Amino acid sequence: MIGRRGASSKRPIAEQVVVITGASSGIGREAAHQFAEAGATVVLAARNEQALRAAAREVETLGGTALVVPTDVSDWAQVAALAETTRDRFGRIDTWVNGAVVSSYGFLADTPVEAIDEVLSVGLRGQFHGVRAALPIMRSQGSGTIIGISSVLGVRSVPLQVPYAAAKHGTTALYEGLRVEERIAGTGVDATAILPATVNTPFYDVVPSFLGTRPPLVPPVYQPSAVAEAILHAAEHPTRHVLVGVAGPLYALQRLSPRLFDVCLHLAGRTFLDRRDAPVDRGQSNHHAPIPGEGATVGRARVALPHSRYTRTVGLRPARAAVTVALASALLLRRHRRG
Ligand SMILES: NC(=O)c1ccc[n+]([C@@H]2O[C@H](COP(=O)([O-])OP(=O)(O)OC[C@H]3O[C@@H](n4cnc5c(N)ncnc54)[C@H](OP(=O)(O)O)[C@@H]3O)[C@@H](O)[C@H]2O)c1
Repeated sequence: MIGRRGASSKRPIAEQVVVITGASSGIGREAAHQFAEAGATVVLAARNEQALRAAAREVETLGGTALVVPTDVSDWAQVAALAETTRDRFGRIDTWVNGAVVSSYGFLADTPVEAIDEVLSVGLRGQFHGVRAALPIMRSQGSGTIIGISSVLGVRSVPLQVPYAAAKHGTTALYEGLRVEERIAGTGVDATAILPATVNTPFYDVVPSFLGTRPPLVPPVYQPSAVAEAILHAAEHPTRHVLVGVAGPLYALQRLSPRLFDVCLHLAGRTFLDRRDAPVDRGQSNHHAPIPGEGATVGRARVALPHSRYTRTVGLRPARAAVTVALASALLLRRHRRG
């Protein structure tokens, strides 16, 4: 029996208390800005306290209230303490955004086992820790939304980022199952997975590379604002998942023909490996310790789209998305058969 309580009972963002993991950089930090502009109280979590304090000043400049709680999401006790600190300070948690991640670039055969463990530990165990810490508090309130930032790599794995894609597949599975579990139990807790494509964040210059070069940002590239917009929408209108940017068409391609996608990835992978202008790797790595400094919201891309037209018109509207995916799939299938 599917419980009835759910998406309809969400508070307006202006009244929400929002916990964000991965708030010291990129998408999490931009989401903190947008939540602050909309009037929410935000709790900022990541490892780098200096960067979190910088993010908190930005939030306060935008008129919001921020609490900094340095947290390593791979450590269950720290994540549990993050949830308890938030509840003790503000009385509740309306939205919990799980954004923290690390990755690595390289062929799996060249990737040290310690790096694989770290990617899974932060990117997948960290997501479970966030969910497990938020759930009892949200259940006791009878309301709450848990938002997991997954990726288009959460529905389609790719070469050179296999551990990350595996963590993201696990993340997608986590939210898919959690959403239905909470409905069965009628708890009023919702779960949404956000699936972006390439986003212009510091990510590409802080994760370790075992290729000798830094990874490229595969176009089209979106600014973190495009993803933050989807996160804020889900905080008031939770849904199964939101595809951001070109993730929508890629999702359709994967559903239609994984083999065709393999061919595209083979060509893209070769093009990437043959590039002569790729930035040189200087051995930077945010595994085990954060990159020191105040952090940033955006990365190195010179051109990036501030919004995703696809997400605004289709991605945030599941019914339209279903029709679009069906039409796109039919079109691609026809072309594939003709070709
Ligand atoms: N950028 C993209 O192209 C893209 C595409 C699809 C999905 N995404 C997803 O979007 C989310 C945000 O990514 P981003 O691009 O904004 O990356 P980012 O700029 O590298 O930010 C990653 C965040 O995770 C935090 N973090 C890393 N290890 C942690 C740990 N052990 N405990 C707590 N926090 C930790 C980092 O802070 P500290 O180092 O201070 O801990 C940082 O705040 C991720 O889930 C990512 O998978 C990104």
